[in-house]
Amino acid sequence: MKENINQSDVLFDISHLFHTFETETGESFSALKDISLKIHKGEFVAIIGTNGSGKSTLARHLNALMLPTKGTVSVEGMLTSDMEYLWDIRQRVGMVFQNPDNQLVAAVVEEDVAFGPENLGVPTEKIITRVDYALERVGMIDYRKQAPSMLSGGQKQRVAIAGVLAMKPDCIVLDEPTAMLDPKGRQEVMETIHELNEKEGITIVLITHFMEEAVTADHIIVIDKGTLQMEGSPKEVFSQVEKLTEIGLDVPIPADLAYRLKKKGLSLSECISNEELGKSLCPFVLKK
Ligand SMILES: Nc1ncnc2c1ncn2[C@@H]1O[C@H](COP(=O)(O)OP(=O)(O)OP(=O)(O)O)[C@@H](O)[C@H]1O
Ligand SMILES: [Mg+2]
Repeated sequence: MKENINQSDVLFDISHLFHTFETETGESFSALKDISLKIHKGEFVAIIGTNGSGKSTLARHLNALMLPTKGTVSVEGMLTSDMEYLWDIRQRVGMVFQNPDNQLVAAVVEEDVAFGPENLGVPTEKIITRVDYALERVGMIDYRKQAPSMLSGGQKQRVAIAGVLAMKPDCIVLDEPTAMLDPKGRQEVMETIHELNEKEGITIVLITHFMEEAVTADHIIVIDKGTLQMEGSPKEVFSQVEKLTEIGLDVPIPADLAYRLKKKGLSLSECISNEELGKSLCPFVLKK
């Protein structure tokens, strides 16, 4: 847990949340079942789970794109079900999705980033400052006059993040933002969101199926078949190798290797990074 995170500073308070869909055949299907959790201001949270486990449904509840069929979601004390708060919540919680091509609407990068604040009714001179700020923060200021179609996937996602940033949000929710990117694009996006979290204090909720990305979070939430299965620090979560494997999730390579070596009788501490594994293996190597 970061030092600056105050446990009483709750951003999202999710209480006994259910989301039940009506399927085409008229049956009902519960994609989220009795989820209760809190996300604090300033945290970097990763949500992991297998395909169809309910991650995107949960993400859409965070900025009232979906409303609970039972239970409540509150954002800084505002209930998402209270229509009075809808625009306030949408402004505070920005969303970034998987496909960058579906999110960029304008012909020029800076126009795209200006779109959100324009819709909020921000005066023109302030929009210019906000666009500059947002493009600067994501390292895309030099591309302001470019056509989004000319950019790489990672650059497009950074412009999409800038578009959200220009709305001055408290939190950005990203639903598998790196799934369609090459390794370089993935790294660009991960560096950008960590910087926004650390330097701007923006709360980040990252849905990912890459365990190397989840490891970099302060807190991990594991969803399976619409239920909350585990939550805790990356170490707390990734040390439960058997449970994760049962759910069908991968474990970061160092955590998996440490688990196997421990099973063979080596007394190792919990390792989730290569550095940690290297350090805890040192005494055994030096003995020889
Ligand atoms: N509009 C809908 N109507 C009926 N069922 C739906 C609807 N949207 C989602 N579902 C179902 O709800 C479940 C959870 O879907 P969701 O998209 O939240 O999963 P996910 O964890 O994001 O999956 P993925 O990893 O594939 O993105 C799935 O079984 C899905 O088929
Ligand atoms: Mg999804």
